[in-house]
Amino acid sequence: MNETLEILVEVNHVWKSYGKIIANEDVTLNIRKGEIVGLLGPNGAGKTTLVKQIYGELHPSQGEIKVLGGKPTDGKIKRMMGVVPQEVTPYGELSVYDNLYFMAKIKGVDKPTAIKNVEDVIEKLNLKDRRKTFARDLSGGLRRRLLIGMALVNSPKLLILDEPTTGLDPEARREVWFLLKSLRDSGIGVLLTTHYLDEAERLSDRIYFVNRKVIAQGTPMEIKRKFSLYYEVTDITSGKVYYVKEDEVKDFVSKLEGKFEVRLPSLEEIYLKVMGNDS
Ligand SMILES: Nc1ncnc2c1ncn2[C@@H]1O[C@H](COP(=O)(O)OP(=O)(O)O)[C@@H](O)[C@H]1O
Ligand SMILES: [Mg+2]
Repeated sequence: MNETLEILVEVNHVWKSYGKIIANEDVTLNIRKGEIVGLLGPNGAGKTTLVKQIYGELHPSQGEIKVLGGKPTDGKIKRMMGVVPQEVTPYGELSVYDNLYFMAKIKGVDKPTAIKNVEDVIEKLNLKDRRKTFARDLSGGLRRRLLIGMALVNSPKLLILDEPTTGLDPEARREVWFLLKSLRDSGIGVLLTTHYLDEAERLSDRIYFVNRKVIAQGTPMEIKRKFSLYYEVTDITSGKVYYVKEDEVKDFVSKLEGKFEVRLPSLEEIYLKVMGNDS
């Protein structure tokens, strides 16, 4: 079957506090080559704090983080990552091309490689028609695409995106999902944070569900299973909706006359349930 998957990120029992506020509590997780890992949690759950430690901008208060075999604060390791932080924008007064090129230079890519990588990114991200456009004149979706491009100019092995689709319209969100999947398929490890359930569910190969600490982890399906104590049964004839315990569904529907529909609750419903109990 599969060869052993390469581990890109190891987070081991990490705690991070700001004074009295504990943002991350004993977090352990990993990311492998060629997978998209979603860090899902509500605002204030500690997602940004955690990813900042993974890309070497913050130090853990306790615990250990290993990225690409080294310390995330090491310049050499940093240059092998691509990062799209929360709430950044490209330089409005620079063209698409120049934003990409200068980012490559900032990341220490040599000139011939920078020129080549920028062309590759422009091609892959379909920015050809926009190469001379000032970043300030781009739509929100294109601006976000450029930011992802800027994270890719050093050919990273690991891409980290903090809320990559927040504020985008549905079409632009889908574009970002499609792009991230194609990057995953090309062998890059992707870590993204999101508070969107549908995004985590559709995009991630694995999810870590966090609210200060890791509340659950697994594939979207496993997460659903773990928390779905109830099935939603809709009696189509009467239009009534029932929440029925897993082991009672069979009995329950056998008593319904006419058409019915049974489904697992959405991650949204699960999410609300868990957050309600554990925040
Ligand atoms: N620089 C900071 N100083 C003090 N508290 C902070 C700082 N950054 C974040 N926090 C707090 O840490 C918690 C986690 O924040 P954050 O990591 O930004 O969560 P998320 O990205 O999931 O919304 C929140 O309670 C937030 O207010
Ligand atoms: Mg955040």
